Amino acid sequence: MKYFIDTANMDEINEVFEWGVLSGVTTNPSLVAKEKDISFHDRLVEIADLVQGPVSGEVIALDAEGMIEEGRELAKLHEHIIVKIPMTEEGMKAVKVLSEENIKTNVTLVFNTVQALTAARAGATYVSPFIGRLDDIGLDGLQLIEEISYIFNSHGIDTEIIAASIRNKLHVHGAALRGAHIATIPYKVLKELTKHPLTDQGIDKFLADWKKTNA
Ligand code: E4P
Repeated sequence: MKYFIDTANMDEINEVFEWGVLSGVTTNPSLVAKEKDISFHDRLVEIADLVQGPVSGEVIALDAEGMIEEGRELAKLHEHIIVKIPMTEEGMKAVKVLSEENIKTNVTLVFNTVQALTAARAGATYVSPFIGRLDDIGLDGLQLIEEISYIFNSHGIDTEIIAASIRNKLHVHGAALRGAHIATIPYKVLKELTKHPLTDQGIDKFLADWKKTNA
């Protein structure tokens, strides 16, 4: 499973990029709105230039024609831009047209298996099931990853699964175990991924022992 970061913030992206673990970035309108005084398009290009991997930018239109127009504009910005499209009937029409034009799409706001399968059949490059938001309403987000993965594997579908709406380390672990191709992870969760109390204790002990030697 690859790691994407779910943010539009350059400081966060730059920091995690330096670890060498980042394969891509996802943004959404809420994440972009947190960034003050930026041009959405310029920010996408800045991210794509740095990461040199898939960077999702979401359309705002709700009708297929509008989504297609926005999608074409976004795709023109950079070879690594992925057009993020909401899971609606209009969205599927847009995915069909954009995929026929070899424009890559990420179908977002996926909450069940048939939405994922439908997006894949329309030609989506990626689907983004939202784990955390399902957990928030008492459902099992990770179970959804497992089921989509099973269905895609059984039917030879090559659309990639991006586990989204990740809230904690267990989501990362669970998504990897259940066959997600990618997890798009918020900065604060990425910062937890290297940590374990026994690692810290181990480093302290090694250093304490080292000080006792003359090596
Ligand atoms: C996915 O691409 C979305 O940006 C994201 O994961 C949404 O997560 P949230 O539920 O934390 O807003």
